[in-house]
Amino acid sequence: MSAKAWGGAFDQKTDPRVEFFTESISFDSRLAAVDIRGSQAHARMLAKVGLLTADECRQIVETLDVIGQEIARGEMVWKTELEDIHMHIESALIARIGDVGRKLHTGRSRNDQVATDLKLYVRDCLTELDTLLIELQQAFVDRCEADADVVLPGYTHLQRAQPVMASHYWLAYCEKLQRDRERLADCLKRVNILPLGAAALAGSSLPIDRHESARLLGFADVAANSLDVSSDRDFLAESIFVLSLISVHLSGWAEEWILWCTTEFGFLKLPDAYTTGSSIMPQKRNPDVLELMRGKSARVIADVQQILTLIKGLPLAYNRDLQEDKLAFFDAFDTVRACVDLAPSIVRHAKLQVETINARLEEGFLDATTLMEYLISKGVPMRTGHEVVGKLVRDCESRRIKLADLTLAELQQACDKIGADVNNSLGVKNVVERLSSFGSGGRKAVAEQVTAWRDRLQAK
Ligand code: ARG
Repeated sequence: MSAKAWGGAFDQKTDPRVEFFTESISFDSRLAAVDIRGSQAHARMLAKVGLLTADECRQIVETLDVIGQEIARGEMVWKTELEDIHMHIESALIARIGDVGRKLHTGRSRNDQVATDLKLYVRDCLTELDTLLIELQQAFVDRCEADADVVLPGYTHLQRAQPVMASHYWLAYCEKLQRDRERLADCLKRVNILPLGAAALAGSSLPIDRHESARLLGFADVAANSLDVSSDRDFLAESIFVLSLISVHLSGWAEEWILWCTTEFGFLKLPDAYTTGSSIMPQKRNPDVLELMRGKSARVIADVQQILTLIKGLPLAYNRDLQEDKLAFFDAFDTVRACVDLAPSIVRHAKLQVETINARLEEGFLDATTLMEYLISKGVPMRTGHEVVGKLVRDCESRRIKLADLTLAELQQACDKIGADVNNSLGVKNVVERLSSFGSGGRKAVAEQVTAWRDRLQAK
């Protein structure tokens, strides 16, 4: 009998080059555990509807367990002629229990089988990633305590703009990661719809019970159109997109910290365990890990392109092109997982160079906007206030002094609405006391958010 599952109608042997060309075992062997889970549930469903006896089902389930352990120990030899993980497991089953094993594929095809495997696999991956993202959020929130009194310059266009509490920066990343987590959760809703039983494309004439399969595998619902679900890879495309956005978020963070580690900024020192040296310049401490997080985002973005291009021209239903879908997902997941796994340690162990930061914190007129808002509070129209402060800044620039160095008389000369209380609006320390709108970078508003984040992460 042919080793192939489909030898019956063929009178020629497959060209070995075709076997190498069409195989996927070299990359889908990692689906082994989910394939076994899916097959065991399928067997139980078949037994429930009477397509297998209880004893046949028991043999299949138990033997699949043994095969799974064998694969986990690395004992199964992958054979190109067996194409993919599904055929390897099924033929190992048949080799052990013969005709009973030959009944497992009743009422299903590899098309719905691989779609089911992928969904089980993606579900586990996205769930694991969510846990890692919580870790990273926690690392940022924990920094808020250590850096509670630190004020950082905020930038727009990479030009000094207004001061914010350091914690405001940390929580900004928590917000981004929270949206990532929400996207993962939303993605999971569509991952969690069962394909199994769609069979090749049209369903089955056998009395299979797909709702029972869904129940056994923890799917929330059963896909209602076999033609659609047997080839649907939307869930992969959106999962990879979500991964790419996580990667883009990490890339932006990495870029910021790379800048902060430069002599020019001098804001941050990375822990030695997460930097690397140079083979020629003995003094170097390079932020390679952060640079690679930035660099690896390119791959994940490319994976989005890959999956979309793969599915864009496919007629219904399964086409073999889809075999390549896994490459994009595995690459995106592995890449992002590795980044999110490393990031919390870097966040926890990097040190803000508070002395360096403070030494230059009053540079760049970070209090100009608050001074303008002080004028507004005294009844000066905003545009007039903007112009008044602009002129004061220009005056200070030419005299190489700060706004806070101006005397009350000089300030009143620029605008007679200014009183002695103007002092409370000048200088970075005062500015962060005055910034008070909800979600602002001021001391009180940020402290409220730190508390909110602590509660949120504790409640997880
Ligand atoms: N290895 C294939 C894949 O990953 C399994 C499905 C094959 N189906 C088929 N009709 N040839 O997509």
